[in-house]
Amino acid sequence: MFESLQTMPADAILGLIAEHRDDPRPNKIDLGVGVYRNAAGETPVLASVKKAEHRILETQISKAYLGTAGSPDFNSAMQEMTFAGAASDERLVTIQTPGGSGSLRVAAGILLRARQDTTVWVSEPTWANHVPLLGGAGLKLKPYPYYDTTKHVIQTDAMLDALRAAPKGDVVLFHACCHNPSGLDPSVDDWRTITDILVERELIPFIDTAYQGFAKNLDEDAFPIRHMAARVPEMIVSSSCSKNFGLYRDRVGTVSFLSADAATAATVSSQANNYVRTIYSMPPDHGAAIVSTILHDEALRSEWYAELDDMRDRLQSMRGLLNDALVEKVPEHDFSHLVRANGMFCFLGITAHHVDRLKEDFGVYMVNSSRINIAGITPDNVEYLADSIAAVL
Ligand code: LMR
Repeated sequence: MFESLQTMPADAILGLIAEHRDDPRPNKIDLGVGVYRNAAGETPVLASVKKAEHRILETQISKAYLGTAGSPDFNSAMQEMTFAGAASDERLVTIQTPGGSGSLRVAAGILLRARQDTTVWVSEPTWANHVPLLGGAGLKLKPYPYYDTTKHVIQTDAMLDALRAAPKGDVVLFHACCHNPSGLDPSVDDWRTITDILVERELIPFIDTAYQGFAKNLDEDAFPIRHMAARVPEMIVSSSCSKNFGLYRDRVGTVSFLSADAATAATVSSQANNYVRTIYSMPPDHGAAIVSTILHDEALRSEWYAELDDMRDRLQSMRGLLNDALVEKVPEHDFSHLVRANGMFCFLGITAHHVDRLKEDFGVYMVNSSRINIAGITPDNVEYLADSIAAVL
């Protein structure tokens, strides 16, 4: 039977992990997969996470099943961190999921159960896995203009026009902050205009929030979620704790559904729990227990806030450092969008041929689209990186 299967190409992002690992060059640089690294190039477990893990080890008395929705304490803390009371609790359902991808997959399943021909509009470009994940689940996907690859700005007017023309009842996927891959986010005023259009056109927002705290802070980064939740009857939010808690491999996330009224929310909850049972039965516990321990403890929470601030500040300063080095070494190219972007990513704005040459000749790894993970830059490697970019250009 299996002989009928075809070998699949390596994942555009995850494939780079192995390629970089197997490269013997000592000065190689990994700007590929979105994982935070400190100035030493390491991805250490956060101190607040370590302390929470110790506490869990000492106090946890059972590993019995928690059920399809995971931990109620985790879910309520995550709902508060995301929505902060922007919509009434009785209209909101939040359940624990295996990471942000698990969350997106559950959301897709519920959308399809609600309407078999659901269309989801996705930004052009969007996270490389959005299309296979949501499209593979069976949703119909359509692109809306987002990023101008030559001017390195958001195509706000074209995006708004596309949303105004979308059929009533369609779903629109947004990135709450730190748009992946461009790093460019709509302004607060743009979010207000987008929300007006959603309300007017009766479109359903579906927000992916994988970087809360990485752009400005936890509250400002949640602005689009809270603003829309206060105005629209229905929405979906997929959250991930991979980046802001550094819990990548532990797979921690939530999916939230906002319904028009409490009775519908109860039905959605029953559907979501039933759907989870049919795919992975229940989410893994350990990472969610860590997040819940941190969010319910004032001292641990403050320590985590400080660690989140450090990660964000380091990313922002590396953007400046690379831009400064490129201004000096490649003055004829404008890289100023590097410092206008938020979070982990932005496009370098070079061709796929340049990306290949950076890998082959200099051991500098990035996604084919020239998306770079800023966290791979350190004060020690930035000169080599800028020299390599200058050489291929
Ligand atoms: C990324 O975009 O690099 C991260 O979100 C990791 C992933 O799963 O693709």
